[in-house]
Amino acid sequence: MGTILITGGLGQIGTELSEHLISKYGSNRVLVSDIKNEASGNIRYTKLDVSDLNKIRKIIEENDVTDIFHLAAILSATGEKDPFLTFNVNLLGTQNIYKAAKEFNLNKLFIPSTIGVYGPTTPKDMVPEDTVIRPVTMYGITKISGEMLGEYYSKKFGMDVRGLRFPGLISYKFPPTAGTTDYAVDMIIHAVRGEDYQCYLKQDTEMPMMYMPDALDAVIDLYEAPRNNLTRFTDYNVGSYSITPASLHEEIKKYYPDFRVEYKPDYRQDIADGWPHSVNFSNAQKDWGFNPKYDLQLTVKDMVSNLKKKFKV
Ligand SMILES: NC(=O)c1ccc[n+]([C@@H]2O[C@H](COP(=O)([O-])OP(=O)(O)OC[C@H]3O[C@@H](n4cnc5c(N)ncnc54)[C@H](O)[C@@H]3O)[C@@H](O)[C@H]2O)c1
Repeated sequence: MGTILITGGLGQIGTELSEHLISKYGSNRVLVSDIKNEASGNIRYTKLDVSDLNKIRKIIEENDVTDIFHLAAILSATGEKDPFLTFNVNLLGTQNIYKAAKEFNLNKLFIPSTIGVYGPTTPKDMVPEDTVIRPVTMYGITKISGEMLGEYYSKKFGMDVRGLRFPGLISYKFPPTAGTTDYAVDMIIHAVRGEDYQCYLKQDTEMPMMYMPDALDAVIDLYEAPRNNLTRFTDYNVGSYSITPASLHEEIKKYYPDFRVEYKPDYRQDIADGWPHSVNFSNAQKDWGFNPKYDLQLTVKDMVSNLKKKFKV
């Protein structure tokens, strides 16, 4: 096995996944890339814009890349502000990765998808992978297309492309950038800093969530699972628990009883209203042993403890 390339490696997931992969496979095997000019910390880093197919080819060739974790993307909220950029990065960028992977006969590709592939006409509760899929955001449209392309390349060209649909991810190491579920992280950060919080969603907006350590385990477990055990390609549902801004607020008040939240829904309410309340992840459990350990209580406890250290409060 050669080098593992991570695209979009300086984002919310990439920052933690790269640490995880380095500790598992060694720093000389992991090459982190992103569109940003430079990275901090002691990692092998190269600048890569995934819309540049020739640069992808060059990096693969020069670094003996055999596997790619393709995380580069524009997320849901930014996606609605700049749908054309989102199309270019999420769809054309992903097609570039598949194309280069095929040309160089790479070993394995991992690409995360999202509950954003569902839409307002999808049933809301315990949603399975195969259901009504009519996303109405550019993010959702590009992510379902990326999933389907991955399945196409797997079946047509015998490539090994794997992926899962993440719910909202909660983490403390690196702030989320521009997703619709970011309020969860933001709300806890405000509480720990002793600040009031203004939430951009209505208090009863229910969505599935998961804590980052469970998300990282899911990525590695799916990546390492024997292909013969897998019944799906790029769309395994994963998740852990479902929350509303109000239920998260209640949980945080166990630590900060005076913490106040004001609700002022903005354009992100429409995006959230199109997403499911909960997902059925029984295929991930059955095929590769997905088993999340953090419920809401444990997530908030761990977030508060780590954010207090981070902000020295
Ligand atoms: N964080 C979540 O809650 C969540 C939920 C579901 C799915 N996902 C998926 O996980 C993946 C990673 O998400 P994230 O939360 O780390 O996002 P993020 O926005 O934090 O990170 C994405 C990274 O991609 C980089 N990027 C943007 N345009 C690029 C380009 N043209 N070329 C190369 N890099 C570029 C950005 O600089 C950023 O560092 C995405 O595919 C996203 O759809 C994330």
